[in-house]
Amino acid sequence: MKAINKNGEKMTETLKHLENIGVFSYGSKASRKFENRLNRVMTRFYRQLDNTGTDTTEMAKEGATAEQTEDLMNKHYDMNIDLFKSFLDQSYMAYSMGYYGETIDEIRNQSLSLEEAQKRKFDLICKRAMITGRERVLDFGCGFGALERYLIDRFPDIRIVGITPSRTQINFLTECLDNPADPISRDRFTLIEGTFETIPISMLGPESFDLIVSIGVLEHIKNLKSVFKYMSELLVADGRSFHHLIISKPIIPLFLSHKGIQYFPGARIWPFQTLENQTEYFKLVESWFVNGLNYWYTLEEWHSRFWQNIDSLYPRILQDDSVRYWNRYFSDNKSAFAPMDGTVFGNGQFLYEKIP
Ligand SMILES: C[S@@+](CC[C@H](N)C(=O)[O-])C[C@H]1O[C@@H](n2cnc3c(N)ncnc32)[C@H](O)[C@@H]1O
Repeated sequence: MKAINKNGEKMTETLKHLENIGVFSYGSKASRKFENRLNRVMTRFYRQLDNTGTDTTEMAKEGATAEQTEDLMNKHYDMNIDLFKSFLDQSYMAYSMGYYGETIDEIRNQSLSLEEAQKRKFDLICKRAMITGRERVLDFGCGFGALERYLIDRFPDIRIVGITPSRTQINFLTECLDNPADPISRDRFTLIEGTFETIPISMLGPESFDLIVSIGVLEHIKNLKSVFKYMSELLVADGRSFHHLIISKPIIPLFLSHKGIQYFPGARIWPFQTLENQTEYFKLVESWFVNGLNYWYTLEEWHSRFWQNIDSLYPRILQDDSVRYWNRYFSDNKSAFAPMDGTVFGNGQFLYEKIP
């Protein structure tokens, strides 16, 4: 039997319990009110930005390639696979922005499913990265193999190596590879466990890729220069690299320190310009800002699906505090992308050619 709360919303026993401890479900009046308040706070924060004097290009040449990767895996990517299955799209399991449209009006007026938006993202990436289907591709930070699924389905001759340090992702992909019915198990995909720091060039082979792609990964990188050098050594003389990542349009000093980023230990948000300045080993061919409302809609759908599946998550996988944590994760992240119609905080896409 379903109870009704003071806002007239139908409640299961789980929802009632969670509401009693102050965890409000997706779409509830209390949750909407909280998110509206967060959006106002973030809008004020973006309006007051004063970022003169920060040289982010120099910052991106310093220190270790990445920080706190082990902590990042433990706290985030190595959560139970059923958590990610509960909210990611059913077609690709993409753990990055779906693409709903180019302009604010187009994004606001679309009626795409998450699955369609993820497919559109990969269509867009293929076009912008100029993928012909004959490349040997390296996908750094391959997640649950979303790009691999898309490319293998679309291009019969493509070969892909996917790399991730996440145990949960490796286990998931190994099961897919062992399953003859899974399209990803075709012999064109090689899976490697590791990071930019732990995999030597000799293991992948110098000059053995035509294209290196990363989607939602360079946020985890502190020393971009070292990564671009590393990638240039792996690419053939006329090789390309394409990167899609969360970026800010202006410099947001707070987000340049991993201390300003919740949920992802060691991460930071690079300004758009910093990626355009990675030209020591590469020539920048083209760059695109992808409006932040695309990620807002993606997170909105993830948040909704998380709550639709709450009975399969709670209490088996998530308990009171972890439901609270993941609920805040969706709301907080939405509030970063929503302000000023997605024009301040969004995604960047960058296509480079190796300087031989
Ligand atoms: C946001 S997910 C994106 C996954 C996938 N590209 C997608 O779009 O679905 C980020 C990915 O980067 C990986 N990652 C994090 N730190 C990394 C590092 N230092 N080196 C390589 N990959 C890393 C994570 O394991 C994860 O697979």
